[in-house]
Amino acid sequence: MRTCLLVITILGSLTTILTHVTFTNLKCATKDIKFANFSKCYIKAVNRTHKYIDLHVNLYQKIVDNATVKVKFMRQDHGYKPFFVDVTVDACKFLKNQRQPMVKMIFDAYKSSSNLNHTCPYNHDLIVDHLWTGNLEGELLKNLPLKNGDYAIFSEWSAHNIVRAIINIYIRIINN
Ligand SMILES: *[C@@H]1O[C@H](CO)[C@@H](O)[C@H](O)[C@H]1NC(C)=O
Ligand SMILES: *[C@@H]1O[C@H](CO)[C@@H](O)[C@H](O)[C@H]1NC(C)=O
Ligand SMILES: *[C@@H]1O[C@H](CO)[C@@H](O)[C@H](O)[C@H]1NC(C)=O
Ligand SMILES: *[C@@H]1O[C@H](CO)[C@@H](O)[C@H](O)[C@H]1NC(C)=O
Repeated sequence: MRTCLLVITILGSLTTILTHVTFTNLKCATKDIKFANFSKCYIKAVNRTHKYIDLHVNLYQKIVDNATVKVKFMRQDHGYKPFFVDVTVDACKFLKNQRQPMVKMIFDAYKSSSNLNHTCPYNHDLIVDHLWTGNLEGELLKNLPLKNGDYAIFSEWSAHNIVRAIINIYIRIINN
């Protein structure tokens, strides 16, 4: 009983921490110019506290049913080191059943800002429009309390097991 109360108290105090996320850098790279290219990949600052990311991927080959995404969380500690999350997702399968909780959390954070929110096939450009830092603060980090510091989300996008593109999002976390 006492343990139970203690756990509830700790969970309660964690959720009252206000976590602020800011985008510090964004890197996009195509590994196969015949497959895809980025026409947008930037961070925009609206004011001191609000920033968003825009991405536009020109897709030159249809993705029918074979795409994998490797997602790694990194923490800056004398260089970026793997931290906590390292998953490889069969993207078309995930979009169909949305079964992996960790992946679903990441997906939920950006799906409302993006046209990647339907099942395969993909035969159109891929767009992320105004992904606000607030999306990450709400969906992702309320379940994942992190120390202040610099982090990154590295992602590798493959079709038929060949890496076609890389997107790395760098963030800073400040808990008040
Ligand atoms: C890829 O996109 C960049 C940035 O929009 C552009 O400068 C470049 O010409 C494009 N490359 C090809 C092969 O379309
Ligand atoms: C910054 O911009 C956002 C989005 O337009 C707005 O909601 C927020 O109130 C602004 N904050 C300040 C301090 O101006
Ligand atoms: C996907 O996003 C588009 C544009 O934001 C939206 O109109 C559509 O309803 C969404 N579809 C699903 C299945 O969430
Ligand atoms: C995707 O393609 C790779 C390489 O051709 C193959 O090894 C793999 O089994 C395919 N995956 C699916 C789900 O079809």
